[in-house]
Amino acid sequence: MNIVVTGAAGFIGSNVADAYIKAGHNVIIIDDLSSGNRENVNKKAEFHHLNINDPKVEDIFKNNKIDVVNHHAAQIDVRKSVADPVFDATSNVLGIIRLLEYCRKYDVPRFIFSSTAGAIYGEPEYIPADEKHPIRPLAPYGVSKFCGERYIQYYHDLFDQDYVILRYPNVYGPRQDPHGEAGVVAIFSGLLLEGKQPKIFGSGEATRDYLFVGEIVRANLIVLDKGTNKLMNLGTGIETSVNDLFGKMRDIIGADVEAIHMPDRPGEVQGISIDASFAKKTIGWQTKITLEEGLARTIDFFRDKMKVEAK
Ligand SMILES: NC(=O)c1ccc[n+]([C@@H]2O[C@H](COP(=O)([O-])OP(=O)(O)OC[C@H]3O[C@@H](n4cnc5c(N)ncnc54)[C@H](O)[C@@H]3O)[C@@H](O)[C@H]2O)c1
Repeated sequence: MNIVVTGAAGFIGSNVADAYIKAGHNVIIIDDLSSGNRENVNKKAEFHHLNINDPKVEDIFKNNKIDVVNHHAAQIDVRKSVADPVFDATSNVLGIIRLLEYCRKYDVPRFIFSSTAGAIYGEPEYIPADEKHPIRPLAPYGVSKFCGERYIQYYHDLFDQDYVILRYPNVYGPRQDPHGEAGVVAIFSGLLLEGKQPKIFGSGEATRDYLFVGEIVRANLIVLDKGTNKLMNLGTGIETSVNDLFGKMRDIIGADVEAIHMPDRPGEVQGISIDASFAKKTIGWQTKITLEEGLARTIDFFRDKMKVEAK
């Protein structure tokens, strides 16, 4: 298949693009490198250094018969979305509308969208939160991602655009940058490996549902031909507090440091886990890797990266 992967110089998109290439697909990457890194771009992919809002993106659709758009490019920094909601919406709302327009115009059969489960439900009424949970984002980032979902639904209803929407929890793993929704694992890895003290904001008892990026990749492979016109959560259903995460990572690394406790940051969800039973029912996806295993693999990645950088 010819697959356009947007945002594949970034953390999750690059892992997905690698897997598509490994599975024998032809991958075209669109990324403006605003938060991504050229090093993450798979050498076997055709790379276009472009913002998804750039009119030149249309040429890619004009010149290739695209089978799937897998849309990962986004402004993902929650605090930045609060500081500059216009920038956030330009990337996350206008960007997806343009891509959907090209899909309509050039008959792209499938649109896969990486949405968020961690930033869309707000402070949950119940956990684990399923897809029927009320939508109450606490920041413009969650609003813009939800808006993208609604545009997809609109293009489906009016123009029969086939789609799959995957709502991710807090994703962690190799290539993650210490920003965004689940940057905490990358931040802790870097500091603990250097024997430095990470900061924990508030009591550290706030919980999240942490999912290893390899599990996300597996779902993106499955939905190339399954889950048509379905919206589904991905997650483990397990709450993990920041204190627990810190403890587990410290044990894996064998670091003898304590965290520095800082005042709470307002506007953050206090506790969430995500119900992915619909994904299990619809596409047969469920998590296989434990948090300990995923953290160990992530720490190995950052340890190797530090060794290379030190040379
Ligand atoms: N990381 C998470 O925990 C998480 C959770 C839920 C959803 N998601 C979603 O997954 C996707 C990927 O997230 P990530 O963590 O890999 O982030 P990332 O910042 O590592 O990757 C995003 C990529 O998109 C590129 N990009 C941003 N705006 C662009 C634009 N306008 N035009 C072209 N390229 C652009 C960046 O350069 C970067 O390479 C995003 O859509 C995000 O909303 C991530």
